Amino acid sequence: MNKGKSMHGMTKARGCDHARLGNFCKLFPDLPSWAAECGIEHPCEAAEVAALLGGPGGVMHDFDDSSRDSEAPAAYTFFAQFIDHDITLDTETNLHGKELDNAKVKEVANLRSASLDLDCVYGFGPEASPYLYDQTQPGRLLVGNDVNDNDLPRNSDGRALIGDPRNDENIFVAQLQLLFLRFHNRRILGRGFEDAQKDVRYHYQWLVLYDFLRRFCDPGVFEYALEEIRKKALPKCEIRDEYGRLCMPVEFSVAAYRFGHTLVRSHYPANEHYPAIELFDERFGTEGFGPVPPELTVDWRFLLDVDDCHPYVKSKAVDHLLADELIRLPDPVVGRNAPANDRSLAFRNLLRGYVLGLPDGQSVAHALKDKGYPVDPHADLQFDEITGWDCLGEKWRKKLEGHTPLFFYVLREAGILGGGRHLGPVGSAILMEVFGAMLVHCDTFLNEKGGWTPDDCLGGENFTLARLVRYVQDHG
Ligand code: HEM
Repeated sequence: MNKGKSMHGMTKARGCDHARLGNFCKLFPDLPSWAAECGIEHPCEAAEVAALLGGPGGVMHDFDDSSRDSEAPAAYTFFAQFIDHDITLDTETNLHGKELDNAKVKEVANLRSASLDLDCVYGFGPEASPYLYDQTQPGRLLVGNDVNDNDLPRNSDGRALIGDPRNDENIFVAQLQLLFLRFHNRRILGRGFEDAQKDVRYHYQWLVLYDFLRRFCDPGVFEYALEEIRKKALPKCEIRDEYGRLCMPVEFSVAAYRFGHTLVRSHYPANEHYPAIELFDERFGTEGFGPVPPELTVDWRFLLDVDDCHPYVKSKAVDHLLADELIRLPDPVVGRNAPANDRSLAFRNLLRGYVLGLPDGQSVAHALKDKGYPVDPHADLQFDEITGWDCLGEKWRKKLEGHTPLFFYVLREAGILGGGRHLGPVGSAILMEVFGAMLVHCDTFLNEKGGWTPDDCLGGENFTLARLVRYVQDHG
């Protein structure tokens, strides 16, 4: 079979030999699930716990905006979301379904390739996804629409013409997608499509490793894993399927990498005229998956360290609190008839963790330590200090302290051991294991013969998201 061909005869964006879509899987399939450890037999009981922790008014609801800021500029929240939309998408599992066993988890399709290949930007490439590309300028991606040049290309219903529809879920991630479209269109000057695509991917992969992961991971775990990546000694777990493709571990996609939800603020500045709009602001009809009005075109100086003289807002702390805006998700994101609990992203994450049979945080900590990661499985996460913890009732308090749902564990660990600045060791180890696998096993800058570093005009080894924004703005 033609190497570039994948499903339905379409040409898959190249970038990873096994970039063809794979399935979900587990890092630690031998660990018992959290539900089994807690004696939970019915989805209703799991939903009860998910509501106590993650529902409206629950332990994770930051209803009075009391969560601190982290040190990371707010734009990294949307970069984190953008990365998520490049690598993982589950449209199959039922939020209120029964717990799936390991065999069933392995049957769930991941609709993004588990590789840092920017399929959310390139789709299946110019041949198979021509509607993403400018037919008048071969190899260039479409940008703008009739109403706003500084928005994504859209069809007559206002739906974005992009590789992953979720990059239009809020206006900030949509504007970040636009940045990457423009970055490609700039980098293609003097190059063919494939060279430009490779150049963009390599710069993006560099950002993921040296800017994003360095910023959000525990420094000890990051340095340990970086060394292992350089030795090509990651992953430590078996996460390739029988065809040699990387699968997407649910410990990552349903728990650790959802840490980004805690970074989200309820309000953001868009530009100097709109210094505080809601993430999903009804006044502008920007409640998800619709055009970015010209007046809300994002000025990244307000969200990122683009200009040394300009103040910018930060992401929220990495802790167990999620912004009110995420506890009351709007109709376009969760559907018109969604009940109150289903509108809460914290509730959804916890219940999804049950459905996909995630193990508890404590046993994952032990398993990671056994694999060699510098993790302390006996870390004291000070549950008694959590506001609202005593309202859980003795039965659940005891169970949850011994067997903490992985998503909650990762966030609490970040708040206590990472001081809210970055993930703790367990969350960091899961991220480094999975990103490490993608970096080591796919077509990445790390595997380029003779080595590769970012273009000098982008800051060389000091390339950051802010440099990318400056470059795109300077070059249109
Ligand atoms: C900016 C606001 C964001 C919103 C409104 C949002 C919303 C959502 C929603 C509704 C889901 C599906 C939940 C479910 O039913 O299980 C989801 C999944 C997910 N989100 Fe977010 N998210 C945001 C930001 C982020 C960020 C910053 C990250 C990463 C650091 C992230 C990582 C993920 C991951 C990994 C999934 C699972 C994807 C899959 O495998 O299908 N999200 N998000």
